[in-house]
Amino acid sequence: MKTNQITFKVTKSSDSAAQAVGIAVASEGALAKEIGLTREQLTALGFEGKLGQTLLLPNSKKQMTIAVGIGEAAKANADAMRTAAAALARASAKVASLSTTLANAGRGDRTAIAQAVTEGLILATHRYDALKNDKKATSKLTSVTLVAPGATSAAISKGAKRGETIADAVCLARDLANMPPAHLTAKMIAERAQNIGAEADVKVEVFTKDQLLAMGCGGMIGVNRGSVNPPRMVKISYQPGGSKAATKSSAKKSSAKSKTKLPHLILVGKGVMYDSGGISLKPSDPSHAMMKADMSGAAAVLATMSTLKALGCKNRITAYMMCTDNLPSGSAMAMGDVLTMRNGKTVEIHNTDAEGRLVLADGLSLAAELKPDAIVDIATLTGACARALGPQMSGVMGNNQQFVDQVVSAAGATDEQIWQLPLERKYRTMIDSYIADMKNVGGPDAGAITAALFLDEFTSGLPWAHIDIAGPMWADSDGGWLQRGATAYGTRLLINLAENFKPN
Ligand code: BES
Ligand code: MN
Ligand code: ZN
Repeated sequence: MKTNQITFKVTKSSDSAAQAVGIAVASEGALAKEIGLTREQLTALGFEGKLGQTLLLPNSKKQMTIAVGIGEAAKANADAMRTAAAALARASAKVASLSTTLANAGRGDRTAIAQAVTEGLILATHRYDALKNDKKATSKLTSVTLVAPGATSAAISKGAKRGETIADAVCLARDLANMPPAHLTAKMIAERAQNIGAEADVKVEVFTKDQLLAMGCGGMIGVNRGSVNPPRMVKISYQPGGSKAATKSSAKKSSAKSKTKLPHLILVGKGVMYDSGGISLKPSDPSHAMMKADMSGAAAVLATMSTLKALGCKNRITAYMMCTDNLPSGSAMAMGDVLTMRNGKTVEIHNTDAEGRLVLADGLSLAAELKPDAIVDIATLTGACARALGPQMSGVMGNNQQFVDQVVSAAGATDEQIWQLPLERKYRTMIDSYIADMKNVGGPDAGAITAALFLDEFTSGLPWAHIDIAGPMWADSDGGWLQRGATAYGTRLLINLAENFKPN
């Protein structure tokens, strides 16, 4: 689904009609002739070819030439080229058309580099501006020509197409997370999921409050109790070969057979549409306006599912989005209340602001019932994780090192940084309850870990990893391929994981 504003073309030579031409310049070595200056002249202008540096130069064709630094040529991998492309997009924000050699520069697999360049151009350009009358801050760039001379054309075209599919998904997830609470309720995101599913050829099933009650999803019902907006759980199923084939009764036998053979991964996303804290109300400081993005996990999961058909993912992927807001009212869940979750375990509420783990508990229980090869959940779960690791990286914990390693390597391949924290079983006593199976908060220490230990109770021991994105879900300013606001962190990581997943 196209959510970005740029139309891409891949051609053998530069587009002479483009208003700007972006030329890659490494920090050493020969310069492309299009630069028209010597290395000494560039240096005198303060441009050394450092990664992400740009310099605007007029040229004789009434175009602007933009020198784009890619740093040391030997280190110009896909990540570096994504960063360089983002810098070029920012330098081109005032023009409508750009032609660039960037996809043909750098070292490594040409498809991967073209993909990264396309991602960088789109991600640094896209802005959620639907609610702004003045769109001055929005980039004017709408047309990009990627120059692919000689034999690189097929690889660059393929990479550009993949990059566009993936970056479109990231833009979708950013838009959803940036939308104010009243613009995107649980019911509304479920409707969006149905439309996206129809377009992306994945099966979408929506579960209402009554259905969740009947299914025994006490976490979802409990968190939703204070809200006038009903909850929604969205289940999305992708099968290589198409969702239609999987549901047709004539194809039942053969698809049931292939189902058992295909690696099966389940994604579970926290979809708290707005987190006020509930009865344990958060203070009214400005940072809490970002709690509209407490559904960033669910958004990343939906965005991921929207790409799988287009990317030709060879694994079977199922997703659960656990959507509700968390609000105080006369009917809200209270401290001391005990909820019974989908898998029958009971939870004593000690803080209604620890709501993410409650909705994930039902999602993980349902996921485990399908006996997949692995489950990964993604959630803006704890301030503790954000304090520990900061805004640049998420935390990951899990019960199966081989699967956690796959998550870490997906993060490495997408430049979405992650750091593993220990799932220290000795801390399980911190969530002991005298009245129920557990309580929903630990003490003041190790908040990210006790949250993960809570989630572990709902995985039935299947290979599972938990990604806490409370830190990187938000950016305070524009920079690189990030834009201020919701980042959609995890979307590219999950897409990479879904494509490369191997059961262990
Ligand atoms: N959604 C928040 C966590 C969060 C905080 C995400 C900051 C992004 C940025 C979560 O529901 C929450 O409120 N967690 C509490 C848990 C505590 C009550 C145990 C927290 O981290 O303070
Ligand atoms: Mn909370
Ligand atoms: Zn929350």
